[in-house]
Amino acid sequence: MSVQAVAIAATAVLGVVMLAASTWRFLNSWIITRPLEADGSGRKLPPGSFGWPFFGEMKEFLQCFKNEKPDQFVKVREDRYGKGGLYTTSMFGVPSIMATRPDVLKFVLKRDDLFGPGWPSLSKIMGPTAVVSVTGELHRTLRRYLFDAIASPEGMAKVLPRLDETVRTVLKEWADQGNVNIRECTRKLTFNVIATNFLSLKPSPELELMEKDYSGFMLGIRALPIYLPGTAHYTAVNCRRRLGARFQALINTRRVSEECYSDFLQSLMEARDPAGMPLTDEQLKDNLVALMLAGYESSAYTMMWTLILLAKHPQCLTKLREEHLHIKMRIGERQLMLEDTKDMIYTQKVIDETLRLVNVAPMLFRTVLQDVDFSGYRLPKGWRVMPWLRAPHMDAEYFPQPEKFIPERWDDKNVNFEAFRPFGGGARTCVGNKFARLQVSVFLHHVSVGYKWALLNPDAKVNHLPHPKPVDGGPMNFAVLA
Ligand code: HEM
Repeated sequence: MSVQAVAIAATAVLGVVMLAASTWRFLNSWIITRPLEADGSGRKLPPGSFGWPFFGEMKEFLQCFKNEKPDQFVKVREDRYGKGGLYTTSMFGVPSIMATRPDVLKFVLKRDDLFGPGWPSLSKIMGPTAVVSVTGELHRTLRRYLFDAIASPEGMAKVLPRLDETVRTVLKEWADQGNVNIRECTRKLTFNVIATNFLSLKPSPELELMEKDYSGFMLGIRALPIYLPGTAHYTAVNCRRRLGARFQALINTRRVSEECYSDFLQSLMEARDPAGMPLTDEQLKDNLVALMLAGYESSAYTMMWTLILLAKHPQCLTKLREEHLHIKMRIGERQLMLEDTKDMIYTQKVIDETLRLVNVAPMLFRTVLQDVDFSGYRLPKGWRVMPWLRAPHMDAEYFPQPEKFIPERWDDKNVNFEAFRPFGGGARTCVGNKFARLQVSVFLHHVSVGYKWALLNPDAKVNHLPHPKPVDGGPMNFAVLA
């Protein structure tokens, strides 16, 4: 066969493959949108595309996040369809709608009567009675209990001495080590904080096993639900089962113990509804799993990124250190108290700016509970809506030079707070947000007053999924401040 004939044959094969591919994609889109066109409402879907059958646009999504361009996924759609803030797509195996503009985010997050929980396969693995899985009155009741335990002034005042103590001890250990992997270190720190405050558990081999199970559980939380040995889902289900058994043992011990506990588990065990009913063991276990999951890596990564960003912006560290040296001069050697945090004004700006730039929780998931008409579009019942929290955070319209770390931007009284939603919003706003801020504030106090640190690989690539982290774990040199 001549070279020319081979070229013609190859072109023909390529043409057929491309035609088949676009027909297949067209058919996928037709199958998804046909029921809506047939319902006669005349409502149209938001603009967008659906990609391949089943896989949808996961490949494009993963590519953007892997290539360290997580905002590209939204940008491409904004360029193609305008900044309407609603775009159809298909991800995690279901047709979905991305919500990206502040007003759209507000609508979706506020209307929990229209949009229910929608995390892919979450309730199966987390537990059906966890706060993140339930709706309506049970959701409100559980949130009230969790709020009293972890976010009320009394709850936080109870936590603070143990938190202060844990942070001081751990920072000394880091300095003794010299070179540390900051991702591992902050994960361990938050796990210890959680174990002490939630369960009154001290560091031990048993706690290390628990942390291992948590890590295995978290790796499978967004995996495809395929229960076969070797899959992330399989590991997660088994880690979850062991965690449940450990929590059950703790609950059983408490029921017969004479000891007086003052931690989150005890608050939840003592909580009563208006009819005087306590939470069942299943509810206690599901919610301990949910709380520990929600509060573990999110806080750890926020601490980690404050250290990385401050190392890269020494002028911000100097300002932060000045604020904390003032506080230190006032309080001397005594532990931090809740009222001391009122003087941490620049600190809160550093935390806000870190949360905005890093986007620990880049997007959320909801299920449309009934057909919703919004902004001229139909959001069909049963579809998934993804509030894309990071979109406004990284949009120059709301935050000029969005890719830069500028804590001072929060001095501006005209900052658009509707565009800033690191903790979500509405009925499911993060119930641990005050606790998270308290942890990071206490951490920043001790670390800025007593220590110095330097990045050993400042240009490390960032892996954005499921949470942003340097691929090498952020090696740093950590030492006592002379
Ligand atoms: C910087 C750290 C944190 C960030 C960025 C963060 C972010 C979020 C976000 C965005 C949501 C909303 C989820 C949704 O609407 O689907 C959420 C919910 C939640 N968070 Fe956090 N979180 C953090 C720390 C914590 C901590 C420390 C705890 C507990 C001690 C916690 C407990 C929860 C719980 C229980 C929910 C579920 C609330 C509900 O469904 O009603 N979070 N968090």
